[in-house]
Amino acid sequence: MIIGTIQAKQAFEGRVAITPDSVKKLIKLGHEVIIESGAGQHAYYDDIAYLNAGAKVASESEVLSQSNIICVVQNLTAEQIAQLSAGSIVIGMLDPYRNDQLDNYAQQGVTAYAMELLPRTLSRAQNMDVLSSQANLAGYKAVLMAANEYARPFPMFMTSAGTVKPAKVVILGVGVAGLQAIATAKRLGAVVEASDLRPAAKEQVESLGGKWLDVPMSDEEKEKAKSTGGYAWTPSEQYMKDQAAVVDKAVSNADIVITTAQIPGRNAPRLVHKMTLDKMKAGSVLIDMAASSGGNVEGTVSGETIITENGVRIIGAANIPASLAAQSSDLYANNLVNFITTLFDKDNNNALTVNLEDEIQGALAVTHSGEVRLQRR
Ligand code: NAI
Repeated sequence: MIIGTIQAKQAFEGRVAITPDSVKKLIKLGHEVIIESGAGQHAYYDDIAYLNAGAKVASESEVLSQSNIICVVQNLTAEQIAQLSAGSIVIGMLDPYRNDQLDNYAQQGVTAYAMELLPRTLSRAQNMDVLSSQANLAGYKAVLMAANEYARPFPMFMTSAGTVKPAKVVILGVGVAGLQAIATAKRLGAVVEASDLRPAAKEQVESLGGKWLDVPMSDEEKEKAKSTGGYAWTPSEQYMKDQAAVVDKAVSNADIVITTAQIPGRNAPRLVHKMTLDKMKAGSVLIDMAASSGGNVEGTVSGETIITENGVRIIGAANIPASLAAQSSDLYANNLVNFITTLFDKDNNNALTVNLEDEIQGALAVTHSGEVRLQRR
């Protein structure tokens, strides 16, 4: 099989879906690899590195028309999809619920796998979990971005010129990114508080040395929280009111706030309102990691830094993993190789086996055999 990748041309994107290391792994599995010239440049992988690993370097249209499997970072355009051959496979972070190209993939006869739809609690799928590999890096980098914008240090210092207080950090949404943000902020010496609507997150926050911001929850809500497979549940009016009060108190006293709350397929919940922003100190920094899906913070603009009248910075962090393009590409490419490996049947001469009865393939395939399979939310 010929497996290829092109350079991601989207704004704020520097990642590449196949690295020289993953070229070697794919060749070892018996495949040929074709890479668009320059595809890895923002991740510091030049064409020579790909050639040395055994790949062929070509133009974008050669990669699109010759590959049986195209690995991408983000969605392809209609013009790119039109160049794919019928029966080819596209694998990547296709943003399935906001993807306006699914009909084009289907009409072109392409099987498109959206990696975000992976069943995350399935243990054999964990090494393919792109949301986790990217969110982990993003949570780390979000804290560094905040530290860089903040005009004071994170740790406590006792100096002859006076005592420096540690920064107060609040993390809202404690999934993969939020946990890594807590760990990173603690390592830098901050005092950390965190909240999530999944009660299971309390123990994880405390095990990292953070303080859990508790929002009262009815027994019915506790049951609901358990039954959503680890994803956020839809909160009641009362919960949202109580949460707003807890968030208002913690955030208005915080120096740094990092928000990560997202709901797959829907707009991000609004957690920090203007009323709270107005009470924050000048120089405080908010990093809104949900900016690209509407934002958790009122006034967020994706890809921009907004400074409020009272001197609070709201950073609409558009694509943080891309700012760590080298490392995020390595982990992403590993995730894709792990998935690609499962598409070939070792017991049948390593033949390509598109099998939508398979739990993982069935969950990821958004188009196949001319049909759009995604259940819209
Ligand atoms: P995410 O990026 O979808 O959301 C981030 C966090 O925001 C989540 O913890 C979510 O509960 C929280 N959130 C959403 N709406 C909220 C609201 N209105 N108020 C407060 N918090 C809110 O989360 P991520 O990192 O993708 O993780 C999703 C789930 O998958 C988590 O339960 C995580 O533990 C689980 N997971 C399990 C894995 C495994 O079992 N191997 C691997 C990765 C994730």
